Amino acid sequence: MSATLIRARLLSFLRRPQSRDDTSSYRYEEDGGLLVEAGRIAAVGPYARVRADAPAGTEEIDHRPQLLLPGFIDAHLHFPQMQVIGAYAADLLEWLNTHTFPEECRFVESEHAARIARHFYDEMIRHGTTTGAAYCSVHKASADAYFAEALRRGMCMIGGKVMMDRNAPQGLLDTPETGYDETRAVISEWHGKGRNHVAITPRFAITSTPAQMEMAGALAREFPDLHIQTHLSENHEEIRVTCELYPEAVDYTDIYAHYGLLGPKSLFGHCIHLSGREADAMSEAGAVAVHCPTSNLFLGSGLFPLKDLLRREKPVRVAVATDVGGGTSYSMLKTMDEAYKIQQLLGERLNPFESFHHMTLGNAEALSLADRIGTLEVGMDADFVVLDAAATPAMALRMEVVRSLADELFLLQTMGDDRAVRETYVAGRPMKTGL
Ligand code: GUN
Ligand code: ZN
Repeated sequence: MSATLIRARLLSFLRRPQSRDDTSSYRYEEDGGLLVEAGRIAAVGPYARVRADAPAGTEEIDHRPQLLLPGFIDAHLHFPQMQVIGAYAADLLEWLNTHTFPEECRFVESEHAARIARHFYDEMIRHGTTTGAAYCSVHKASADAYFAEALRRGMCMIGGKVMMDRNAPQGLLDTPETGYDETRAVISEWHGKGRNHVAITPRFAITSTPAQMEMAGALAREFPDLHIQTHLSENHEEIRVTCELYPEAVDYTDIYAHYGLLGPKSLFGHCIHLSGREADAMSEAGAVAVHCPTSNLFLGSGLFPLKDLLRREKPVRVAVATDVGGGTSYSMLKTMDEAYKIQQLLGERLNPFESFHHMTLGNAEALSLADRIGTLEVGMDADFVVLDAAATPAMALRMEVVRSLADELFLLQTMGDDRAVRETYVAGRPMKTGL
Protein backbone atom coordinates (compact mmCIF):
# COMPACT_ATOMS: atom_id res chain seq x y z
CA MET A 1 0.00 0.00 0.00
CA SER A 2 1.44 3.40 -0.94
CA ALA A 3 2.34 5.85 1.80
CA THR A 4 2.72 9.65 1.72
CA LEU A 5 5.02 11.67 3.93
CA ILE A 6 3.93 15.28 4.45
CA ARG A 7 6.52 17.75 5.73
CA ALA A 8 5.31 20.98 7.37
CA ARG A 9 5.14 22.86 10.63
CA LEU A 10 2.59 20.84 12.64
CA LEU A 11 0.15 22.07 15.27
CA SER A 12 -2.30 19.86 17.14
CA PHE A 13 -4.13 20.37 20.43
CA LEU A 14 -4.17 18.05 23.45
CA ARG A 15 -6.81 19.93 25.47
CA ARG A 16 -8.44 23.34 25.79
CA PRO A 17 -5.75 26.05 26.34
CA GLN A 18 -6.23 27.91 29.62
CA SER A 19 -4.28 30.98 28.50
CA ARG A 20 -2.11 32.38 25.72
CA ASP A 21 0.94 30.90 27.50
CA ASP A 22 -0.51 27.42 28.05
CA THR A 23 2.14 25.67 25.94
CA SER A 24 1.33 22.22 27.35
CA SER A 25 -2.14 22.33 25.76
CA TYR A 26 -0.78 21.72 22.26
CA ARG A 27 1.99 19.99 20.35
CA TYR A 28 3.98 22.06 17.88
CA GLU A 29 6.63 20.59 15.58
CA GLU A 30 8.74 23.18 13.74
CA ASP A 31 10.00 20.62 11.17
CA GLY A 32 7.33 17.95 11.34
CA GLY A 33 6.55 14.81 9.40
CA LEU A 34 3.19 13.09 8.98
CA LEU A 35 3.08 9.65 7.42
CA VAL A 36 -0.28 8.85 5.84
CA GLU A 37 -1.35 5.35 4.88
CA ALA A 38 -4.81 4.19 3.80
CA GLY A 39 -6.39 7.52 4.74
CA ARG A 40 -5.07 7.47 8.31
CA ILE A 41 -2.10 8.91 10.16
CA ALA A 42 0.50 6.13 10.43
CA ALA A 43 3.24 8.17 12.13
CA VAL A 44 3.81 11.74 13.31
CA GLY A 45 6.74 13.61 14.86
CA PRO A 46 10.00 15.29 13.88
CA TYR A 47 10.47 14.98 10.10
CA ALA A 48 13.86 13.23 10.35
CA ARG A 49 12.51 10.47 12.61
CA VAL A 50 9.31 9.88 10.63
CA ARG A 51 11.34 9.91 7.39
CA ALA A 52 13.80 7.34 8.73
CA ASP A 53 10.99 4.93 9.68
CA ALA A 54 8.91 5.43 6.49
CA PRO A 55 8.59 2.46 4.11
CA ALA A 56 10.60 2.44 0.89
CA GLY A 57 8.86 4.17 -2.00
CA THR A 58 7.04 6.68 0.22
CA GLU A 59 5.98 9.77 -1.76
CA GLU A 60 6.95 13.11 -0.14
CA ILE A 61 5.10 16.43 -0.14
CA ASP A 62 6.88 19.45 1.31
CA HIS A 63 4.63 22.23 2.64
CA ARG A 64 7.32 24.17 4.48
CA PRO A 65 7.14 26.91 5.70
CA GLN A 66 3.38 26.47 5.92
CA LEU A 67 1.49 25.41 9.03
CA LEU A 68 -0.51 22.16 9.00
CA LEU A 69 -3.38 21.52 11.43
CA PRO A 70 -6.23 19.02 11.63
CA GLY A 71 -8.93 20.04 9.14
CA PHE A 72 -11.42 22.62 10.37
CA ILE A 73 -14.78 21.41 11.65
CA ASP A 74 -18.02 23.38 11.18
CA ALA A 75 -20.61 22.32 13.76
CA HIS A 76 -23.70 23.95 12.19
CA LEU A 77 -24.59 25.06 8.68
CA HIS A 78 -27.37 24.77 6.13
CA PHE A 79 -26.62 23.08 2.82
CA PRO A 80 -29.70 24.54 1.00
CA GLN A 81 -28.86 28.13 1.97
CA MET A 82 -25.87 28.81 -0.30
CA GLN A 83 -27.94 31.20 -2.40
CA VAL A 84 -29.40 33.23 0.49
CA ILE A 85 -26.13 34.32 2.11
CA GLY A 86 -26.35 38.06 2.67
CA ALA A 87 -30.12 38.26 1.99
CA TYR A 88 -31.37 41.57 3.39
CA ALA A 89 -33.78 41.27 6.35
CA ALA A 90 -34.52 42.89 9.69
CA ASP A 91 -34.14 39.78 11.82
CA LEU A 92 -34.30 35.98 11.98
CA LEU A 93 -38.03 35.42 11.39
CA GLU A 94 -38.22 37.93 8.52
CA TRP A 95 -35.07 36.40 6.98
CA LEU A 96 -36.55 32.89 7.21
CA ASN A 97 -39.98 33.81 5.85
CA THR A 98 -38.89 36.22 3.11
CA HIS A 99 -35.77 34.58 1.73
CA THR A 100 -34.86 31.25 3.23
CA PHE A 101 -38.06 29.20 3.19
CA PRO A 102 -38.78 30.06 -0.49
CA GLU A 103 -35.18 29.17 -1.39
CA GLU A 104 -35.32 25.81 0.38
CA CYS A 105 -38.50 24.92 -1.61
CA ARG A 106 -36.25 24.52 -4.67
CA PHE A 107 -34.63 21.43 -3.14
CA VAL A 108 -37.64 19.32 -4.05
CA GLU A 109 -35.77 18.94 -7.37
CA SER A 110 -33.03 16.36 -7.02
CA GLU A 111 -30.99 17.86 -9.87
CA HIS A 112 -30.89 21.20 -8.12
CA ALA A 113 -29.93 19.50 -4.83
CA ALA A 114 -27.12 17.57 -6.57
CA ARG A 115 -25.75 20.74 -8.19
CA ILE A 116 -25.75 22.69 -4.92
CA ALA A 117 -24.17 19.74 -3.09
CA ARG A 118 -21.20 19.89 -5.46
CA HIS A 119 -20.79 23.63 -4.79
CA PHE A 120 -21.26 23.07 -1.06
CA TYR A 121 -18.36 20.64 -0.70
CA ASP A 122 -16.21 22.71 -3.07
CA GLU A 123 -16.62 25.69 -0.72
CA MET A 124 -15.91 23.65 2.38
CA ILE A 125 -12.70 22.33 0.87
CA ARG A 126 -11.72 25.75 -0.46
CA HIS A 127 -12.01 27.04 3.12
CA GLY A 128 -10.16 24.16 4.79
CA THR A 129 -13.22 22.59 6.40
CA THR A 130 -13.15 18.81 6.29
CA THR A 131 -16.14 17.97 8.50
CA GLY A 132 -19.49 19.69 8.94
CA ALA A 133 -22.84 19.14 10.62
CA ALA A 134 -25.44 20.43 8.18
CA TYR A 135 -29.18 20.75 7.83
CA CYS A 136 -30.58 19.60 4.50
CA SER A 137 -34.08 20.75 3.46
CA VAL A 138 -37.32 18.97 4.32
CA HIS A 139 -37.06 16.99 1.08
CA LYS A 140 -35.48 13.54 1.25
CA ALA A 141 -33.88 14.27 -2.14
CA SER A 142 -31.76 16.97 -0.50
CA ALA A 143 -30.38 14.53 2.08
CA ASP A 144 -29.70 11.98 -0.66
CA ALA A 145 -27.71 14.59 -2.63
CA TYR A 146 -25.84 15.74 0.48
CA PHE A 147 -24.72 12.28 1.56
CA ALA A 148 -24.02 10.98 -1.95
CA GLU A 149 -21.59 13.85 -2.60
CA ALA A 150 -19.91 13.42 0.82
CA LEU A 151 -19.44 9.73 0.05
CA ARG A 152 -17.95 10.54 -3.36
CA ARG A 153 -15.39 12.83 -1.72
CA GLY A 154 -14.65 10.59 1.26
CA MET A 155 -15.61 13.32 3.73
CA CYS A 156 -16.78 12.82 7.31
CA MET A 157 -20.14 14.59 7.43
CA ILE A 158 -23.11 14.82 9.78
CA GLY A 159 -26.45 15.78 8.22
CA GLY A 160 -30.17 15.38 8.44
CA LYS A 161 -33.39 15.70 6.54
CA VAL A 162 -35.14 18.62 8.21
CA MET A 163 -38.47 17.83 9.89
CA MET A 164 -40.99 20.72 9.75
CA ASP A 165 -44.78 20.44 9.63
CA ARG A 166 -46.13 23.95 10.31
CA ASN A 167 -45.50 27.70 10.01
CA ALA A 168 -43.78 27.48 6.62
CA PRO A 169 -44.84 27.38 2.94
CA GLN A 170 -46.71 24.26 1.79
CA GLY A 171 -43.76 23.15 -0.33
CA LEU A 172 -41.63 22.93 2.79
CA LEU A 173 -43.87 20.86 5.03
CA ASP A 174 -43.82 17.18 5.88
CA THR A 175 -46.14 15.52 8.42
CA PRO A 176 -45.30 13.77 11.68
CA GLU A 177 -45.57 10.43 9.84
CA THR A 178 -43.67 11.32 6.66
CA GLY A 179 -41.02 13.16 8.68
CA TYR A 180 -40.52 10.01 10.72
CA ASP A 181 -40.61 7.58 7.76
CA GLU A 182 -38.27 9.62 5.57
CA THR A 183 -35.79 10.20 8.39
CA ARG A 184 -35.77 6.44 8.95
CA ALA A 185 -35.18 5.88 5.24
CA VAL A 186 -32.28 8.36 5.27
CA ILE A 187 -30.79 6.55 8.28
CA SER A 188 -31.00 3.14 6.64
CA GLU A 189 -29.63 4.37 3.30
CA TRP A 190 -26.84 6.63 4.52
CA HIS A 191 -25.87 6.26 8.18
CA GLY A 192 -22.49 4.56 8.46
CA LYS A 193 -22.01 4.53 4.67
CA GLY A 194 -18.50 5.86 4.05
CA ARG A 195 -17.97 8.50 6.72
CA ASN A 196 -21.61 9.67 6.83
CA HIS A 197 -23.51 10.27 10.07
CA VAL A 198 -27.25 10.95 9.99
CA ALA A 199 -28.70 13.41 12.53
CA ILE A 200 -32.31 13.63 13.68
CA THR A 201 -33.17 17.20 12.59
CA PRO A 202 -36.39 18.88 13.73
CA ARG A 203 -35.75 22.44 12.44
CA PHE A 204 -36.97 24.22 15.61
CA ALA A 205 -40.02 24.18 17.84
CA ILE A 206 -41.82 26.89 15.82
CA THR A 207 -41.96 24.69 12.70
CA SER A 208 -42.79 21.40 14.43
CA THR A 209 -46.15 20.50 15.97
CA PRO A 210 -46.16 18.62 19.28
CA ALA A 211 -47.06 15.51 17.23
CA GLN A 212 -43.91 15.91 15.15
CA MET A 213 -41.78 16.53 18.24
CA GLU A 214 -43.14 13.21 19.59
CA MET A 215 -41.95 11.52 16.40
CA ALA A 216 -38.52 13.13 16.68
CA GLY A 217 -38.35 11.84 20.27
CA ALA A 218 -39.36 8.36 19.08
CA LEU A 219 -36.49 8.41 16.56
CA ALA A 220 -34.09 9.52 19.31
CA ARG A 221 -35.17 6.55 21.45
CA GLU A 222 -34.90 4.11 18.55
CA PHE A 223 -31.49 5.42 17.46
CA PRO A 224 -29.82 6.61 20.68
CA ASP A 225 -26.38 6.92 19.04
CA LEU A 226 -27.50 9.44 16.44
CA HIS A 227 -26.87 13.15 16.70
CA ILE A 228 -29.85 15.45 17.16
CA GLN A 229 -29.63 18.97 15.77
CA THR A 230 -32.02 21.89 16.13
CA HIS A 231 -32.14 25.61 17.00
CA LEU A 232 -32.57 27.12 20.46
CA SER A 233 -32.82 30.61 21.92
CA GLU A 234 -31.51 32.61 18.97
CA ASN A 235 -33.70 35.70 18.96
CA HIS A 236 -36.10 37.36 21.43
CA GLU A 237 -39.11 37.27 19.09
CA GLU A 238 -38.40 33.62 18.22
CA ILE A 239 -38.33 32.78 21.94
CA ARG A 240 -41.64 34.61 22.54
CA VAL A 241 -43.43 32.85 19.64
CA THR A 242 -42.02 29.47 20.69
CA CYS A 243 -43.17 29.79 24.30
CA GLU A 244 -46.65 30.78 23.08
CA LEU A 245 -46.80 27.64 20.94
CA TYR A 246 -45.77 25.42 23.87
CA PRO A 247 -47.48 27.04 26.90
CA GLU A 248 -46.95 24.02 29.19
CA ALA A 249 -43.15 24.21 28.88
CA VAL A 250 -41.31 26.18 31.57
CA ASP A 251 -38.98 27.62 28.92
CA TYR A 252 -37.66 26.95 25.38
CA THR A 253 -35.08 24.33 26.46
CA ASP A 254 -37.77 22.47 28.41
CA ILE A 255 -39.66 21.85 25.16
CA TYR A 256 -36.80 19.81 23.72
CA ALA A 257 -36.21 18.10 27.09
CA HIS A 258 -39.89 17.13 27.28
CA TYR A 259 -39.67 15.26 23.96
CA GLY A 260 -36.43 13.46 24.86
CA LEU A 261 -34.25 15.60 22.61
CA LEU A 262 -31.83 16.93 25.23
CA GLY A 263 -28.77 14.67 25.47
CA PRO A 264 -25.01 14.44 24.95
CA LYS A 265 -25.34 14.17 21.15
CA SER A 266 -27.76 17.10 20.90
CA LEU A 267 -26.41 20.11 19.02
CA PHE A 268 -28.34 23.32 19.67
CA GLY A 269 -27.67 26.15 17.25
CA HIS A 270 -27.23 29.62 18.82
CA CYS A 271 -28.27 29.41 22.56
CA ILE A 272 -27.67 33.14 22.96
CA HIS A 273 -30.34 34.02 25.50
CA LEU A 274 -30.50 30.97 27.81
CA SER A 275 -31.65 31.48 31.40
CA GLY A 276 -29.59 30.02 34.24
CA ARG A 277 -32.09 27.17 34.51
CA GLU A 278 -31.75 26.38 30.82
CA ALA A 279 -27.94 26.45 30.96
CA ASP A 280 -28.07 24.09 33.97
CA ALA A 281 -30.36 21.72 32.08
CA MET A 282 -28.01 21.79 29.07
CA SER A 283 -25.03 21.14 31.31
CA GLU A 284 -26.66 18.24 33.15
CA ALA A 285 -27.64 16.63 29.85
CA GLY A 286 -24.19 17.18 28.32
CA ALA A 287 -25.86 18.97 25.39
CA VAL A 288 -23.86 21.29 23.13
CA ALA A 289 -24.47 25.01 22.52
CA VAL A 290 -23.26 25.87 19.01
CA HIS A 291 -21.96 29.42 18.64
CA CYS A 292 -22.54 30.95 15.19
CA PRO A 293 -20.90 34.39 15.36
CA THR A 294 -21.20 35.71 11.79
CA SER A 295 -24.88 34.75 11.74
CA ASN A 296 -25.59 36.27 15.16
CA LEU A 297 -24.11 39.58 14.05
CA PHE A 298 -25.65 39.55 10.56
CA LEU A 299 -29.18 38.82 11.86
CA GLY A 300 -28.68 41.01 14.93
CA SER A 301 -29.57 38.06 17.16
CA GLY A 302 -27.29 38.91 20.10
CA LEU A 303 -23.90 38.38 21.74
CA PHE A 304 -23.19 34.74 22.69
CA PRO A 305 -21.93 34.48 26.30
CA LEU A 306 -19.15 32.00 25.45
CA LYS A 307 -17.01 32.57 28.52
CA ASP A 308 -19.98 32.63 30.90
CA LEU A 309 -21.15 29.26 29.61
CA LEU A 310 -17.70 27.69 29.94
CA ARG A 311 -16.91 29.19 33.34
CA ARG A 312 -20.17 28.65 35.23
CA GLU A 313 -20.42 26.12 38.04
CA LYS A 314 -22.25 23.81 35.67
CA PRO A 315 -20.35 24.44 32.42
CA VAL A 316 -22.05 24.03 29.06
CA ARG A 317 -20.26 22.27 26.19
CA VAL A 318 -19.67 24.72 23.34
CA ALA A 319 -18.98 24.31 19.61
CA VAL A 320 -18.39 26.93 16.91
CA ALA A 321 -19.92 27.14 13.44
CA THR A 322 -20.54 29.26 10.36
CA ASP A 323 -24.35 28.81 10.16
CA VAL A 324 -24.23 29.46 6.42
CA GLY A 325 -26.55 30.99 5.06
CA GLY A 326 -27.58 33.05 8.14
CA GLY A 327 -23.82 33.14 8.58
CA THR A 328 -21.98 35.20 6.01
CA SER A 329 -18.80 33.18 5.41
CA TYR A 330 -17.75 29.57 4.88
CA SER A 331 -14.47 30.38 6.60
CA MET A 332 -13.86 29.09 10.11
CA LEU A 333 -11.05 31.69 10.31
CA LYS A 334 -13.56 34.48 9.67
CA THR A 335 -15.95 32.78 12.09
CA MET A 336 -13.40 32.92 14.92
CA ASP A 337 -12.49 36.49 13.97
CA GLU A 338 -16.12 37.46 14.62
CA ALA A 339 -16.25 35.27 17.74
CA TYR A 340 -13.26 37.20 19.05
CA LYS A 341 -14.99 40.54 18.41
CA ILE A 342 -18.15 39.38 20.19
CA GLN A 343 -16.08 38.49 23.26
CA GLN A 344 -14.39 41.90 23.03
CA LEU A 345 -17.82 43.55 23.18
CA LEU A 346 -18.64 41.45 26.25
CA GLY A 347 -15.37 42.47 27.94
CA GLU A 348 -13.91 38.95 27.61
CA ARG A 349 -10.68 37.65 26.04
CA LEU A 350 -10.49 34.86 23.48
CA ASN A 351 -6.87 33.97 22.84
CA PRO A 352 -5.69 32.59 19.47
CA PHE A 353 -4.85 29.15 20.84
CA GLU A 354 -8.39 28.82 22.19
CA SER A 355 -9.78 29.80 18.79
CA PHE A 356 -7.77 27.21 16.89
CA HIS A 357 -8.60 24.61 19.54
CA HIS A 358 -12.31 25.35 19.00
CA MET A 359 -12.05 24.88 15.21
CA THR A 360 -10.30 21.50 15.56
CA LEU A 361 -10.24 19.34 18.71
CA GLY A 362 -12.90 21.41 20.50
CA ASN A 363 -15.44 20.86 17.73
CA ALA A 364 -14.42 17.20 17.32
CA GLU A 365 -15.19 16.65 21.01
CA ALA A 366 -18.45 18.62 20.80
CA LEU A 367 -19.53 16.39 17.88
CA SER A 368 -18.40 13.21 19.73
CA LEU A 369 -15.97 12.49 16.88
CA ALA A 370 -12.66 13.05 18.68
CA ASP A 371 -11.74 9.38 18.31
CA ARG A 372 -11.44 9.92 14.53
CA ILE A 373 -10.81 13.61 13.76
CA GLY A 374 -9.59 16.86 15.33
CA THR A 375 -5.96 15.96 16.18
CA LEU A 376 -2.78 14.77 14.46
CA GLU A 377 -2.44 11.57 16.50
CA VAL A 378 -1.46 8.19 15.06
CA GLY A 379 -4.56 6.28 13.92
CA MET A 380 -6.67 9.38 13.28
CA ASP A 381 -8.24 10.06 9.90
CA ALA A 382 -5.88 12.09 7.71
CA ASP A 383 -7.97 15.28 7.34
CA PHE A 384 -5.72 18.36 7.34
CA VAL A 385 -5.61 22.04 6.49
CA VAL A 386 -2.40 23.76 5.35
CA LEU A 387 -2.32 27.48 6.15
CA ASP A 388 -0.26 30.35 4.77
CA ALA A 389 -0.21 33.43 7.00
CA ALA A 390 1.40 35.47 4.20
CA ALA A 391 -1.25 34.60 1.61
CA THR A 392 -2.12 38.15 0.54
CA PRO A 393 0.15 41.20 0.14
CA ALA A 394 -1.38 42.78 3.26
CA MET A 395 -0.90 39.57 5.26
CA ALA A 396 2.67 39.14 4.01
CA LEU A 397 3.52 42.69 5.10
CA ARG A 398 1.98 42.12 8.53
CA MET A 399 3.75 38.75 8.80
CA GLU A 400 7.15 40.47 8.40
CA VAL A 401 6.94 41.59 12.03
CA VAL A 402 5.26 38.52 13.53
CA ARG A 403 7.58 36.73 15.97
CA SER A 404 5.48 34.07 17.72
CA LEU A 405 3.15 31.20 16.88
CA ALA A 406 0.36 32.92 18.86
CA ASP A 407 0.70 36.06 16.74
CA GLU A 408 0.80 34.04 13.52
CA LEU A 409 -2.44 32.28 14.49
CA PHE A 410 -4.04 35.57 15.43
CA LEU A 411 -3.04 37.06 12.08
CA LEU A 412 -4.50 34.06 10.24
CA GLN A 413 -7.75 34.47 12.18
CA THR A 414 -7.97 38.24 11.79
CA MET A 415 -6.93 38.66 8.15
CA GLY A 416 -7.28 35.16 6.72
CA ASP A 417 -9.98 33.49 4.65
CA ASP A 418 -9.94 30.88 1.86
CA ARG A 419 -6.88 32.57 0.36
CA ALA A 420 -4.89 31.52 3.43
CA VAL A 421 -5.79 27.86 2.86
CA ARG A 422 -3.03 26.40 0.68
CA GLU A 423 -4.28 22.83 0.75
CA THR A 424 -7.03 20.72 2.26
CA TYR A 425 -6.50 16.99 2.73
CA VAL A 426 -9.43 14.60 3.05
CA ALA A 427 -8.50 11.07 4.16
CA GLY A 428 -4.93 11.75 3.05
CA ARG A 429 -5.80 13.11 -0.40
CA PRO A 430 -5.09 16.74 -1.38
CA MET A 431 -8.46 18.14 -2.50
CA LYS A 432 -8.11 21.90 -2.86
CA THR A 433 -5.56 22.10 -5.65
CA GLY A 434 -7.76 19.81 -7.77
CA LEU A 435 -10.87 22.04 -7.51
N1 GUN B 1 -33.94 28.80 13.10
C1 GUN B 1 -34.69 27.93 12.39
N2 GUN B 1 -34.23 27.75 11.15
C2 GUN B 1 -33.13 28.52 11.06
C3 GUN B 1 -32.19 28.76 10.02
O1 GUN B 1 -32.27 28.22 8.92
N3 GUN B 1 -31.17 29.62 10.31
C4 GUN B 1 -31.05 30.22 11.52
N4 GUN B 1 -30.03 31.05 11.73
N5 GUN B 1 -31.93 30.02 12.51
C5 GUN B 1 -32.95 29.18 12.29
ZN1 ZN C 1 -29.00 27.23 11.67
